[in-house]
Amino acid sequence: MKSLFTVLLMFIVATPSLYARLTPKEGSSFNVGFNIVNYGATGDGHTDDSEAFKRAWQDLCGATEGTPTLLISNGSFVLQPMLFKGPCKLTAINIQVDGTIVAPESVIDWKWPDSNRGAWIKFSGINDLVINGGGTFDGQGAPWWTRYNDPDYKPTALQFHNCNNSALSGLTHINSPRNHISIDSCNDFSISNIHIIAPEDSHNTDGIDISKSSNLLIENSKIETGDDCIAINSGSSFINITGVTCGPGHGISVGSLGRNGAYETVEEIHVKYSTFTGTTNGARIKTWMGGSGYARKITFEHIILIGARNPVIIDQQYHDYAISDLNSAVRVSDVTYYNFTGTSTSQDAITLNCDTNVGCIDIVLNDLNITFADGGETLASCNNAHGTFSSCYPSISCLSS
Ligand SMILES: *[C@@H]1O[C@H](CO)[C@@H](O)[C@H](O)[C@H]1NC(C)=O
Ligand SMILES: *[C@@H]1O[C@H](CO)[C@@H](O)[C@H](O)[C@H]1NC(C)=O
Ligand SMILES: *[C@@H]1O[C@H](CO)[C@@H](O)[C@H](O)[C@H]1NC(C)=O
Ligand SMILES: *[C@@H]1O[C@H](CO)[C@@H](O)[C@H](O)[C@H]1NC(C)=O
Ligand SMILES: *[C@@H]1O[C@H](CO)[C@@H](O)[C@H](O)[C@H]1NC(C)=O
Repeated sequence: MKSLFTVLLMFIVATPSLYARLTPKEGSSFNVGFNIVNYGATGDGHTDDSEAFKRAWQDLCGATEGTPTLLISNGSFVLQPMLFKGPCKLTAINIQVDGTIVAPESVIDWKWPDSNRGAWIKFSGINDLVINGGGTFDGQGAPWWTRYNDPDYKPTALQFHNCNNSALSGLTHINSPRNHISIDSCNDFSISNIHIIAPEDSHNTDGIDISKSSNLLIENSKIETGDDCIAINSGSSFINITGVTCGPGHGISVGSLGRNGAYETVEEIHVKYSTFTGTTNGARIKTWMGGSGYARKITFEHIILIGARNPVIIDQQYHDYAISDLNSAVRVSDVTYYNFTGTSTSQDAITLNCDTNVGCIDIVLNDLNITFADGGETLASCNNAHGTFSSCYPSISCLSS
């Protein structure tokens, strides 16, 4: 009887636990693994595994020791629109994605929960979240691209809202219905070594959208989509982008800012060592007539252009017919373009189209050599743009001091 009890006890103890300790790190910090498979996820690519994610998240977010780590290994896990909500008990949460997380094909007909309108997967109110691995987020967005023109109706694939000190790395993000990744109201966020892929003709499929966020780093990533590579929207500052290859798509865009007469601000945006290949724009700043606020302290340096149309463009005159006071504009100042080489697929290599009343000031262009892919001359055009230039082809003699 006693030995049977012992055997039974051993059996219970040895049962694969939801709560298995992995490799201990130094000190008291050690990973505590939660494997999605142990929550009943099938990973078979068609069964809805959402309930498993829901229960795993409760344990992960409620864990009280170590570094809780959600493991999503081999397999293709179908996940319905889901909100992963903080605050969590601990200030360090890891999600290791080596398999594929896939939106259901029927997501287009899914009734979105009000708490999570606008995103397929949303992380909200969580600090110190690290998502990494070699896996994939597959948004199955194709039906959305053709059936809906209104971007506001389509969900972002992966949204981070209200977060501090978090990171995303290593993953592949494909075919979002709308933006692939949105960072909204976050500080100290790093994105590295990711690959975003959607077809060139897929509408509104921005790579990364940033708003109301500071101290972001996006590095060593490749973004091929049908819309902006990275869009930097209002309330954002201290954003570094380095080693990013964009294209196809619409390039890296500050804005648009000031739509519907809004006061919007962006500053300290620094793009370096990046490449635009086959993009419709390159380094772009766009603001609406009738808005106010500013876009300032922006640098684009060490940029390679491989057949980019409109590689350098400021458009401070987006026209908004709903606004009657078109005398105001978002101020654009202190913008530097340094060391651009390569080809433009249009003659208009440099377009500085600034507002008639407000203008752009302190625009500095140095060491640019942008040639026409078809062999002819490239041109620069300016409208009320003020600043200096040196060693530039095309010459920017239209710039006023
Ligand atoms: C993942 O797949 C590999 C190769 O098919 C296999 O060796 C490994 O055991 C699998 N891992 C898990 C966690 O299922
Ligand atoms: C992140 O930090 C900001 C500024 O300190 C704070 O207002 C916000 O509540 C923090 N977010 C979370 C999820 O703790
Ligand atoms: C951005 O780059 C500047 C200058 O190199 C650096 O001081 C700052 O710490 C960087 N910020 C981030 C978030 O990487
Ligand atoms: C100019 O940019 C290219 C491409 O990023 C880089 O390899 C080169 O070192 C830069 N030149 C200078 C002088 O910084
Ligand atoms: C600009 O680039 C073209 C094409 O690569 C090259 O022939 C030309 O010498 C370059 N001009 C300067 C000033 O570097």
